[in-house]
Amino acid sequence: ECTLPGDKSLTHRVALFAALAEGESRVGNFLRAGVTQAMLGALSDFGVDWALDGDTLIIQGRGPSELHSPKNVLNCGNSGTTLWLLAGALAGANVSCILDGSSGLRTRPMGRIVEPLCAMGVRIQAAPGDVAPLTLESRPEGEALQALEISLPVASAQVKTAILLAGLGAQGTTDLREPGPSRDHTERLLASMGVEIMRDPQIHRVRLQPPDSPLRPLNLDLPGDISSAAFLIVAALIVPGSDLLLKGIGLNPTRVGLLDVLQKMGASIEFHNLKEVHGEPMGDLRIQTSELVGIRVEGPLVVRMIDEFPIFAVAAALARGKTTVSEAEELRHKESDRISSLCRELHNMGVKIEEKPDGFVIEGGVRPRGGVCVASHGDHRLAMALSVAGLAAEEPTGVEGAEIINESFPEFTAILRGFGAEATS
Ligand code: S3P
Repeated sequence: ECTLPGDKSLTHRVALFAALAEGESRVGNFLRAGVTQAMLGALSDFGVDWALDGDTLIIQGRGPSELHSPKNVLNCGNSGTTLWLLAGALAGANVSCILDGSSGLRTRPMGRIVEPLCAMGVRIQAAPGDVAPLTLESRPEGEALQALEISLPVASAQVKTAILLAGLGAQGTTDLREPGPSRDHTERLLASMGVEIMRDPQIHRVRLQPPDSPLRPLNLDLPGDISSAAFLIVAALIVPGSDLLLKGIGLNPTRVGLLDVLQKMGASIEFHNLKEVHGEPMGDLRIQTSELVGIRVEGPLVVRMIDEFPIFAVAAALARGKTTVSEAEELRHKESDRISSLCRELHNMGVKIEEKPDGFVIEGGVRPRGGVCVASHGDHRLAMALSVAGLAAEEPTGVEGAEIINESFPEFTAILRGFGAEATS
């Protein structure tokens, strides 16, 4: 039985949105990890006062007009969310800065936010090749941002959030549509802070009205991260004799695609103590070892489990029959090219997996051989997924570069050890 650190997407948002609000915010179960440290470090550079008391973040919001343009280049580390969300918020706040990050972050596509922000009148530029660093220049007084009406080509919560945050400081109504249901934490949180947000979930449309009064500060405890829970859920399903209770986990419908898929594959997952906190559904999950069968994943389901494909592939490797993932080319733009890195490393462990341009096919039902050292490719979720595959493998498995796990889930190895796994570093 265990509880988990706060959701990563919510942690990024509460820290940034609280800095844009006016007044003191207090947020419990704040995720203390590499990527969220990158956001807090950046907020310090803008002159925001914050402190951590254990895992409670206390932040003094003074509104967007009090953010200073920093002298130094902002280091977003490995965190795409930090970089993209900051770019939108800083554009709305009219701050100058250079946003940069690790060599991994410098390979990720920037055009998808630079183009819409430019169309709003933001002075923003990517480095040649459409990559970080991003240079943001403040506008002269009197030059206002114009709200955008836009249909995004790819469903992406990070892109959507950047545009909505810029829209907070623009003239007119921002009107945005997506091809699928990307996570909606931004909409739920901003609404709870007093912003007028109109939504039509059937057509994935959001409209935002710039607020007349300051954002209200936040006071809440964050739910546990469903994307971190996913590793323990699959571990429990595939390690014989497991019975696991995860308490207080975020169950936002835009995030629980993996649970829907696993249940269809035959997983025993029970939901208990369901409630809603600040517009976010949460509850307890009980998982017991189950016989799984292969499945097909495509369409709108893909975005509802976008971060879970590495660990889903491990479940599929142990499931009887064939699993096919398609329409998931977006996975190539995550912390690693998650189609090619996943296929290469699971293949090295003895899994029958075939790479496709937009997904992969697995012939499951056989324990991975293990007995090899696989690579994390600088990708925290790949490192954790391979570790869980190692739990089910015939021979011990090494995961090279596993320290990258600290980016999102520093407690991962200790929790697995607590459940009896043999893990050494
Ligand atoms: C995130 C959105 C997802 C996800 C990322 C965090 C967010 O990306 O992969 O880890 O916090 O908004 P996209 O929805 O932009 O693809």
